[in-house]
Amino acid sequence: MTDSQNELSPEHQVEAARKAFEQEFERFARFTAGDLEAAVAEERALADLRTRHLGKKSALAATKKLIGRVAPDQRAAFGQLVQATEAALVQSLDQAEQSLKEYIQNERTARESIDVTLPGRRPRFGHRHPITLLRERLEDVFVALGYAIEDDREIETDFYNFDALNIPENHPARAWQDTFYTTDGFALRSQTSTVQIHAMQRRGVPVRMIAPGRVFRRDTPDPTHNPMFFQVEGLCVDRGITMAHLKGTVAEFLRRTFGPDTVTRFRPSYFPFTEPSAEFDFSCFKCKGSGCRICKNSGWIELGGSGMVHPNVLRIVGVDPQQYSGFAFGFGIDRMTALMYELDDIRLLFENDVRFLEKFE
Ligand code: DAH
Repeated sequence: MTDSQNELSPEHQVEAARKAFEQEFERFARFTAGDLEAAVAEERALADLRTRHLGKKSALAATKKLIGRVAPDQRAAFGQLVQATEAALVQSLDQAEQSLKEYIQNERTARESIDVTLPGRRPRFGHRHPITLLRERLEDVFVALGYAIEDDREIETDFYNFDALNIPENHPARAWQDTFYTTDGFALRSQTSTVQIHAMQRRGVPVRMIAPGRVFRRDTPDPTHNPMFFQVEGLCVDRGITMAHLKGTVAEFLRRTFGPDTVTRFRPSYFPFTEPSAEFDFSCFKCKGSGCRICKNSGWIELGGSGMVHPNVLRIVGVDPQQYSGFAFGFGIDRMTALMYELDDIRLLFENDVRFLEKFE
């Protein structure tokens, strides 16, 4: 066996192990830590170096096994050489490690320390949107009247948006409720009346619910129109429900919302999903009916549509119109918000200008 290692004398092998160590160690001896990450990496490299040069499989460890093979009269001196070399390596490593550790410790402390004299950062509170404020107010009124709150999908099929609401294909009512269509038979709902159908399918009857939500129409934005706006739908179905219940409910909700002296007015109208149908207005909350800028001097504010649920609508959800009757209503809340805050342009509500939104709460 001609292993070149074995050809070196034991003393030379110790010397070679020391040199090999020193060569690698040199950069640690010169290292002046510049930043924390580099120092942490260096600490790891140093531990690695220790294993390679002092570990069980190191060249120096191998020389210990030679002690027995050295001539007896030289054995003590050789043993001392090995020990002294090992001690020197350990010392170099310990020193380098110590200074790295100190540096890392100091650096970490410096980084983590906080200047307690600095002023704190105040959390910025957001607040609710004016439409949300009104919606929540209306929800409170209706919950107090025993209504559940429904929330439903904004993407609909023709069935829920039109057919189930007694608006067959080619019905002219589809035109003024034109909305945004996707290619695969879905459309953004153009009215919250869709929730009447979902609610009856889900809950059955009797049912009493309101459904506030976002609706969409193909409209050119102007100070009083926006292609996306908010409505509140209402539905009450039970045995023996009459138009008197509708009028009483709408009048009560308006009194609770705008004050006890609010007067409600119904005007005959037409909606495909109600029969008979009526639009409703309420006396201006600002001038109390005497005429002002808000009500355009009419004394009245037009609010929404309503009526007795059409028998076809009940039938489509499997409710027998001979046994059950109901009323429904729907109104937009964007314009109402604009009126209440005397905004000249409803588009302000959707521009998300923080300076504008900050004015409310
Ligand atoms: N969906 C109607 C609209 O968007 C409003 C409406 C009218 C809702 C009469 C109703 C109703 O529930 O009975 O203009």
